[in-house]
Amino acid sequence: MPLQNPKEVAGRRAAEFVTDGMTVGLGTGSTVYFTLVQLAERIQSESLAIRGVPTSVDTERKARELEIPLVELADIGSIDLTIDGADEIDPDFNLMKGGGGALLREKVVAYISEREVIVVGRAKLVERLGTTFLLPVEVVPFARPVVARELTRLGATPNLRVTDPGAPYMTDNGNEILDCRFEGGIEDPAALEIALGRIPGVVETGLFVGLAHVVVIGNDDGSCEVRARP
Ligand code: 5RP
Repeated sequence: MPLQNPKEVAGRRAAEFVTDGMTVGLGTGSTVYFTLVQLAERIQSESLAIRGVPTSVDTERKARELEIPLVELADIGSIDLTIDGADEIDPDFNLMKGGGGALLREKVVAYISEREVIVVGRAKLVERLGTTFLLPVEVVPFARPVVARELTRLGATPNLRVTDPGAPYMTDNGNEILDCRFEGGIEDPAALEIALGRIPGVVETGLFVGLAHVVVIGNDDGSCEVRARP
């Protein structure tokens, strides 16, 4: 059997969770891109009526190109369902996100979502967060030196995310990102999330604890596994 793209398998499958009339959070990344494509196809073929809430400027642009109707956060109270990607997921459904830099908007959208569906290829499953990916911490530029010192005190090795010409990477919100290595991974994601939130200048972290309800895992043989949080 020819190999398939696990991201496409998971991304397209998750679009089946969307039903008529829903307000849908649209995550960010290359896996969710396939969800957007599938939703656009369903809008055409089934006259599916939905309103999307994009989690990044990039997703907003892609959704507009695909003619997915969008709605402003200010015009809704909650979101029925969000479909988003992740960089790592552990057995307790804790996530590491923010590889694409959209962690803040992704977390705001997840927070007001009744259901959060995560789409990943199987390679994203880990036993412990922080073992294959650095933890992104979004910081206010002014506070970066203070935050970096505090992160080091908490056992991290922070590195400023930079763009190709070497300038600081800027998020959609005008902030910077410190990508943090934790030797041996992150022992207690919930405790770390609280500790990081206490540092002035930290806007948000890529730790998503207790926010994911369903994980759709794509395999390269074209099959797909759907796991619901117990
Ligand atoms: C962006 C994210 C993405 O969802 C995450 O990086 C996964 O991306 P991809 O599906 O391209 O692997 O958190 O901030």
